Amino acid sequence: MSVNPLPARGLLGDTAARDYSEKLRRFNAFAAPELRAAIAGLGLRPGMRVLDAGCGTGEALAWLAAEVGRHGNVVGVDLSRAHVEAARALGDAVQADVAALPFAAGTFDLIWSVNVVNHLRAPRDGVRALASLLRDGGRLALGQSSFLPDMVFAWDARLERVVNEAVRAYYRDKYAVDERGLAAVRATVGLLREEGLHDVRAQTFSIDRISPVNPDDERYIAGTLFRDSWGSRLATYMDADDYDAMMRLCDPVNAAFALRRPDFHFLQTFTLTTGTLSAK
Ligand SMILES: C[S@@+](CC[C@H](N)C(=O)[O-])C[C@H]1O[C@@H](n2cnc3c(N)ncnc32)[C@H](O)[C@@H]1O
Repeated sequence: MSVNPLPARGLLGDTAARDYSEKLRRFNAFAAPELRAAIAGLGLRPGMRVLDAGCGTGEALAWLAAEVGRHGNVVGVDLSRAHVEAARALGDAVQADVAALPFAAGTFDLIWSVNVVNHLRAPRDGVRALASLLRDGGRLALGQSSFLPDMVFAWDARLERVVNEAVRAYYRDKYAVDERGLAAVRATVGLLREEGLHDVRAQTFSIDRISPVNPDDERYIAGTLFRDSWGSRLATYMDADDYDAMMRLCDPVNAAFALRRPDFHFLQTFTLTTGTLSAK
């Protein structure tokens, strides 16, 4: 069901027809312990009404529902038809644009929105639209995982820097976004304050994974990150020796595969920023 006009194309290429469900499933399986810890820390109570804005494939719908119980209510919205269909297997979900949502003002106790505002061409408009749906005293929780992992090749900081620079160059070319556009995690405190939210707080959760890694972690790191986000996409952005070294470390059947090393330590951060709507 599409209830309002949907935007043509977001900053990072999102459309109603775009489908990256598998990538979202893998990230949520990978980061589930940290995401659930972030949700647990929100102090949700039974009976609360919660919106997951930009719910993707809906994993958080089930996690949020567990906090608010059967007298509570959790609904997700997402622009992508395919993501909404996947989310409906886990909860209630509607296809809509966060800037034009089919809910009355003051509906929600909490709005959870993870890795979404950095996809919007007008993040302030999105945050304003979401804040308008909060009841007095309700909270907006914006989550952002770091755009680049904070550590992947613990034993080779130079190669890691070269790879990160290649990823930035790739995104700059693909989406025409520069360093400022990619650093959304740095801006959420300001976004919440600019929209008049009070009691703004930020907490960062570290996602540490060391060898031996479990199958969900390997699917995300080797599949979603190494193969689908890096891999051959980066060939033209790196010199041949660095590219070959990276590919050896990223290849599960190569003896040099990073995840089999005893010194493998992956680190990524997830920052949750919250703000409260209060009557003036
Ligand atoms: C990086 S994904 C995050 C999904 C989910 N929150 C999660 O953490 O797995 C961004 C999501 O925002 C959705 N999205 C992008 N622009 C949107 C918009 N204007 N309105 C609603 N959803 C949007 C995309 O379809 C995608 O599902």
